[in-house]
Amino acid sequence: MISSERIPNNVDLAGNKRLQRALEHWQPAYLDWWRDMGPPGFQDSHRVYLRTAVSVDAAGWAHFDFVKLPEYRWGIFLAEPTPDRRIGFGDFKGQPVWHEVPGEFRNQLRRLIVIQGDTEPASVEQQRSLGAHCPSLYDLRNLFQVNVEEGRHLWAMVYLLHAHFGKDGREEGEALLARRSGDADNPRILTAFNEKTPDWLSFFMFTFITDRDGKFQLAALAESGFDPLSRTCRFMLTEEAHHLFVGESGVARIIERTCELMAQHRTDDVAKLRGLGVIDLPTLQRYLNFHFSVTSDLYGSEVSSNAASFYTNGLKGRFQETTIGDDHRLEGAQYPVMEVIGERIVTRNVGAVTALNERLRDDWTHDLENAIERWNRIPEKHGIGFRFKLPHKGFHRRIGVFAEHHVSPDGKVLAEAEWTHRHQQWLPSAEDRAFVQSLMGRVTEPGKFANWIAPPRQGINKQPVNFEYVRFG
Ligand SMILES: [Fe+2]
Ligand SMILES: [Fe+2]
Repeated sequence: MISSERIPNNVDLAGNKRLQRALEHWQPAYLDWWRDMGPPGFQDSHRVYLRTAVSVDAAGWAHFDFVKLPEYRWGIFLAEPTPDRRIGFGDFKGQPVWHEVPGEFRNQLRRLIVIQGDTEPASVEQQRSLGAHCPSLYDLRNLFQVNVEEGRHLWAMVYLLHAHFGKDGREEGEALLARRSGDADNPRILTAFNEKTPDWLSFFMFTFITDRDGKFQLAALAESGFDPLSRTCRFMLTEEAHHLFVGESGVARIIERTCELMAQHRTDDVAKLRGLGVIDLPTLQRYLNFHFSVTSDLYGSEVSSNAASFYTNGLKGRFQETTIGDDHRLEGAQYPVMEVIGERIVTRNVGAVTALNERLRDDWTHDLENAIERWNRIPEKHGIGFRFKLPHKGFHRRIGVFAEHHVSPDGKVLAEAEWTHRHQQWLPSAEDRAFVQSLMGRVTEPGKFANWIAPPRQGINKQPVNFEYVRFG
């Protein structure tokens, strides 16, 4: 028997027997999925120093202890309600928020929740091979922390489906455990979540870039007039911050290590650096280009009537909606989007309410640019002239106005032949990927790090860097 304490929660599960039974029914299916698709080789054999949320207050949301992965206590937590919260945007602006799903928006809301929910187990599936060749115990622990929290984010969405969408919701909850990243017959919903995460550089780029998409999607959903969705997303955002940290600091440590050897050997020669066992900066830039372009597509088309409808219906807002100084209805407002005319990329204004995908993509891009400026201080510190830069938003896109075109990283529209000839300079080649893969060893001695990555400046939860973050047995 699973008691309500087995599912830590602040939603009074014990007081809602019907819901408790539904979730208790889903829990073993979830655990089967976790054992099937979670990190192989680390299920019952290892204990991991993990943060578990046991409540949402400052003391309880980050409780650290050693746990076996399948025994992680995946819980259901909503941020505390805001008294007298009002819908902040769209046609219902100023009205009290909804605590139940408004019937006319049921399908739209379910779709939003399912799409968000689907990304969570997808990333666990994408990352499942990484434990076998970790660069350190510190990094291994961070990988598992991200994995268990993505699992908890799935719980967060399945809770909403079970609590508010009846039989349809329970069916969606099962479908979320049935789809598989990269599966030919039953793939995850969004393309980027069907890509492989085959090596640790890809993992760090993914958490830096794609988890940041998660941050912006969650922030937009945290504005929702459907209050349970808002509260769930607000709490998920506190966990997401760590995922972004893992990505940003992971790549920063790779840059640091490469720059150390560049300075020490006074070289930027790619072959020589690869011979020294570090990842040259141009290869890092190509990985950045790849992950940026693939993740850009997650925001959808620049102009979207769905996005407009989510907004006017009060379901999904803009990033930091409440801090924006306008009418929050976007009546008559314009927003610039790009389009390709002949060989030129031009900007035109469209109704802002139709351009909300583009706006969220732009907000995410600015956040990334700031983080990349922090990376750029590393080569600078070593007296190295290299600077990382995001490619043009039209580069290597599959969705939206650029999908039919080839655009270089600096924003030139290219003919097919030129793209074919040059795109290997801009995206990781098979050779780049093979080289990165060749570096992936398995370092499990506490305090030791693979040669291609610098140690972090500090450990997790004030533990030392050489702490035994993952223990056998
Ligand atoms: Fe997540
Ligand atoms: Fe995440």
